[in-house]
Amino acid sequence: MAKKIVVIPGDGIGKEITDSAVEVLKKADAKFGLGLSYDYYDAGGTAYDKFGTPLPQETIDAAKASDGVLFGAVGGDKWDNVEPTLRPEKAILGLRKHLGLYANLRPVKVSDTLVEYSPLKQEVVKGVDLVIVRELIGGIYFGDRCESEQKDGHERAWDLENYSVPEVERIAKLAFETAKLRRGKVTSVDKSNVLATSRLWRRTVAEVSKGYPDVELDNLYVDNCAMQLALRPTQFDVICTGNLFGDILSDEAAVLGGSIGMMPSASIGECTSLFEPIHGSAPDIAGQGIANPIGTILSAAMLLRYSLHEEAAAKAIEDACDKALADGYRTPDLWKEGFKKANTDLMTEVIVERV
Ligand code: NAI
Ligand code: MG
Repeated sequence: MAKKIVVIPGDGIGKEITDSAVEVLKKADAKFGLGLSYDYYDAGGTAYDKFGTPLPQETIDAAKASDGVLFGAVGGDKWDNVEPTLRPEKAILGLRKHLGLYANLRPVKVSDTLVEYSPLKQEVVKGVDLVIVRELIGGIYFGDRCESEQKDGHERAWDLENYSVPEVERIAKLAFETAKLRRGKVTSVDKSNVLATSRLWRRTVAEVSKGYPDVELDNLYVDNCAMQLALRPTQFDVICTGNLFGDILSDEAAVLGGSIGMMPSASIGECTSLFEPIHGSAPDIAGQGIANPIGTILSAAMLLRYSLHEEAAAKAIEDACDKALADGYRTPDLWKEGFKKANTDLMTEVIVERV
């Protein structure tokens, strides 16, 4: 039976980069016999223009019924004045909610060819290969909040951080499963010297770890973790953390590799999972055919790995991206004297050749 992939290009460079990733998937399919099919749906500003909503019901239904969603990016200046509940970015938040995407995985791998793009010293980032596993639908982003109230004669606002044991168990299991396939180390990050939620987090992760005797568990406070990511990032294999800390640490970790255009992500759901580059719709370069497609291509590889369990095909795509870079091809975001200039189409072509 065909494996149904729902492709949601979205806005800005979204179409260019998802087209590119689908070309690469088609080559992997031809080589590994994956039996993939592709259905295209709208979301974001493009959907708002057509249907008056950034996330049409048919997009939600199709995503739910699929074997995996490949998402480009949404947003752009054109929709700056749209009312807040109908903004393009609501599409991705809505999909997280409707698909129950409880975990966000962001791998950061600095291959030898990319070491020179890092803002950090080469000896610090050489060999970095880590994954941040961030809880995505709980914690302070989804707790009760108060925009404004009067107390003791002053205006105040508040947001409630809260986690339940099952929420922490679910994300911790995913982190340990991920570590099992890698170097066997989980670093759980919290602020348990201050926060009650963090103490529950730490207890629960320790409990889950008993089921994984072969995986080493380390605990770090979030402030120390932020520092360690800049000082000695090679110490990390899998970092497991809550929604707020994960949001901040994953952006910090993303700069280790130097280019936002290279970074993939996976959002894992109970049934369907969603895969997208970490960058946005890059309105400043949209339509010029120069976007770096690698973050989206690597996201497609994660789709093969996590949703379809096609490890060999996923690895072949990742190796093809490494090979294209090692052979000197660079999109403008990475281009320097001495390298071969590639637009999106050429970059796609050289990666397809190497799969
Ligand atoms: P952005 O990630 O779109 O762009 C930041 C900078 O990186 C720009 O200079 C852009 O040209 C460059 N860039 C990004 N991706 C690139 C690629 N593949 N190749 C080459 N260069 C690339 O972030 P920005 O400008 O803050 O946001 C633009 C729009 O995207 C906004 O509407 C924002 O809300 C939306 N956004 C959407 C996300 C999503 O759909 N998941 C995530 C982040 C932002
Ligand atoms: Mg962020």
